[in-house]
Amino acid sequence: MAGRDVIEKLGREVTILPSLLLCDFANLQSEVEQLEQAGIRGLHLDVMDGQFVPNLTYGMPIVDALRKVTEMPLDVHLMIKQPERYLSAFANAGADLLTVHIEACEDIVSTLAEIRSLGMAAGVALDPATEIARIESALPVADLVLVMSVPAGFGGQSFEPDALEKTRQLASRDDGNWILEMDGGISMDTISSCRSAGANWLVIGSAIFGQQSYADAIEQLLHTANR
Ligand code: DX5
Ligand code: ZN
Repeated sequence: MAGRDVIEKLGREVTILPSLLLCDFANLQSEVEQLEQAGIRGLHLDVMDGQFVPNLTYGMPIVDALRKVTEMPLDVHLMIKQPERYLSAFANAGADLLTVHIEACEDIVSTLAEIRSLGMAAGVALDPATEIARIESALPVADLVLVMSVPAGFGGQSFEPDALEKTRQLASRDDGNWILEMDGGISMDTISSCRSAGANWLVIGSAIFGQQSYADAIEQLLHTANR
């Protein structure tokens, strides 16, 4: 999928992207099949380096493995220092959308441009402690803005309500150029406020993978979001 195609494919309507951080990695293919059957249309992959964040997860091999078993868009969230070192590696592994953290990048504008030139859509993420002003220069060149509603690093943390105001402010400035994504602590209790703040895509980990039936969890989450 080239560049902004992934944005067109998933669209701007409320969309749930499961964060595969908490899935069963010994059965990745069947996890993906279950999610697809539950109506999921894109996957969110959390790459952490033990440096930018204290947690360490996975990298290109998992993206590559997923690329072989699904045609769903792969939304890759890089929580790594100097992400510019790995942009082409993730493009080659099959990422469709690559999001980098403003706090981890030296030159956000050129990093986003390079992501696009590699044929992927480009996202910029900001942690709860980071002001919108920090991403000002990135806004005209981003395909996606990711508002973190927990500090990047771990699944299962509590939602930070201040992220709603940040999302509202960004939504009020959105001229249709970028997707607004929220990530962290989104559950049955918080999903509708994320939606009403103006988020398009909602990344969800524990509220799906902590449940017996992914399909039931996803249906209930979507129903609550759209209420
Ligand atoms: C946090 C990650 C998230 C997170 C989502 O650094 O980016 O994608 O794992 O998990 P929950 O929904 O459990 O907060
Ligand atoms: Zn994430």
